[in-house]
Amino acid sequence: MTSVRDLQAKAGTEPITMLTAYDAPTAAIVDDAGVDVILVGDSVANAALGYETTVPVDVDVMAHHVGAVTRATEEAMVVADMPFLSYGADEATGIENAGRMLQQEDADAVKLECGPHTVDLTRRLVELGIPVMAHLGLTPQHVNQYGGYPRQGTDQESAERILELAREHEDAGAFSLVLEHVPSNVAAEVTDAIDIPTIGIGAGPDCDGQVLVFHDAVGMSEWSPSFAKQFGDVKGEMESAVSDYVEAVESESFPAEEHSHEQADLDELY
Ligand code: KIV
Ligand code: NA
Repeated sequence: MTSVRDLQAKAGTEPITMLTAYDAPTAAIVDDAGVDVILVGDSVANAALGYETTVPVDVDVMAHHVGAVTRATEEAMVVADMPFLSYGADEATGIENAGRMLQQEDADAVKLECGPHTVDLTRRLVELGIPVMAHLGLTPQHVNQYGGYPRQGTDQESAERILELAREHEDAGAFSLVLEHVPSNVAAEVTDAIDIPTIGIGAGPDCDGQVLVFHDAVGMSEWSPSFAKQFGDVKGEMESAVSDYVEAVESESFPAEEHSHEQADLDELY
């Protein structure tokens, strides 16, 4: 089991690896590959549930996927992403929803898209024993404010803002920080300025670790951001397996003798 302390010990010596997973078979593959952290991201909305944004996903949907992942994971740390409006509106609800991920679904930590409104909540969650991974830069739950997914921290003021919030969440007790879609020099400076590990996505090479959406990494997405790298062609493999199946049934080459159960010893049915 990878703990918060294992992760912090690894940072600065070796890069931390993180990938998303949303279901049991995928989690088992990611875990067996030795990935340090499995994020059950609200990106499940886009990657697996057919939504355009992460906004429609609620805490029941996330809990369903977090449970599937934790049941199949032995070594990796499992981080439950807290969905839109499940935290930040009032403290008690945020605590209850985050607590549910650990207590009912066996997650090891939660991740919050952060702003000034999550500093006190982070402190409370950590006091209560719920490890918090912070997330700054592009926070996709704000898509309706951004009108898309623009890079963040591209001017002096917004870069300073990211650094200030990074420090505040570190002080509040967050154990690590995801930096999404920010210039690599901003990510490098934030990584230098704080002691907790930074994990980047579209944030250049100088973070303490990297994260990608599973479907983007293995080549299973319809669309993926320019900062993602495709390490396989799983979609191509699936397409070819499915068309081979259709072809085999239609041509009556499947099922063959070896796929058929022995016949029952019966008299003729009438
Ligand atoms: O939901 C998600 O997959 C994320 C990562 C991209 C960091 O938040
Ligand atoms: Na997310």
